[in-house]
Amino acid sequence: MRLDGKTALITGAARGIGLAFARAYLAEGAQVAIADVSGAEAAAQTLGEKAFGLTMDVTDPASIEAGVAAVAEWGGGIDILLNNAAVFDLAPIVEITRESYDRIFSVNVAGTLFPLQAVAKRMIAQRRGGKIINMASQAGRRGEALVAVYCASKAAVISLTQSAGLDLIKHGINVNGIAPGVIDTPMWGEVDALFAKYEHKPLGQKKREVGLAVPFGRMGMPEDLTGAAVFLASSEADYIVAQTLNVDGGNWMS
Ligand SMILES: NC(=O)c1ccc[n+]([C@@H]2O[C@H](COP(=O)([O-])OP(=O)(O)OC[C@H]3O[C@@H](n4cnc5c(N)ncnc54)[C@H](O)[C@@H]3O)[C@@H](O)[C@H]2O)c1
Repeated sequence: MRLDGKTALITGAARGIGLAFARAYLAEGAQVAIADVSGAEAAAQTLGEKAFGLTMDVTDPASIEAGVAAVAEWGGGIDILLNNAAVFDLAPIVEITRESYDRIFSVNVAGTLFPLQAVAKRMIAQRRGGKIINMASQAGRRGEALVAVYCASKAAVISLTQSAGLDLIKHGINVNGIAPGVIDTPMWGEVDALFAKYEHKPLGQKKREVGLAVPFGRMGMPEDLTGAAVFLASSEADYIVAQTLNVDGGNWMS
């Protein structure tokens, strides 16, 4: 029960990795607000009375303000923010559209910074510190030919984690990140279909290839990330500041 009595807000938690994080935080004694553009209430209902589902769009300042206020009222403040919501797209450089760029940066970068800002303001006023965890990716560690914008967005998340971590530690707020490798979630279904289109592969082949290339020997599952997410949200991580932890079966070292 390492998170006993804590209130956590997880964005993009109606499915995939965010939902696994919600389950893990509940198992450690936290009460968890599941925020998503769709499906949050239904997901929360499957998780019991210590879960609260709310519709929140991380690209919309009014939605962030209302969502953060609702969670703070429900939970008696906010102790943990997990910025998990993100979208993916890929295209060769010469085919990237402004629309795709704007959507990715709006969800992945602004959608990390502004929930972080709204929750940090509350944490500072609460005067009891806090933990903020941003979901980066191995894609933020180096570019990929077809994945320029998503990679750049996750590099921005790593950089924001560093700056926010340095700025907020004086308030007892730890900001850190997790950089997963390849994790089997609904997002990877979309990723596989896009690679199939641009690399002319049958559906499912790219997913098999990336899994085989992981030194651990397989793709990750959302549950492979929950240990890191619980640890970084717990008091065991008090002295960890502005870091992004690779949890990727050995894909990347830094
Ligand atoms: N799956 C992977 O291989 C992998 C690898 C590295 C990093 N990640 C990162 O992990 C996190 C979770 O990924 P996942 O695979 O579970 O993705 P997913 O697509 O399965 O889930 C993402 C969730 O975010 C929500 N979302 C999208 N836009 C939103 C918005 N504007 N406001 C609120 N919620 C919104 C979606 O509705 C969805 O429920 C993401 O940050 C992703 O970039 C995933």
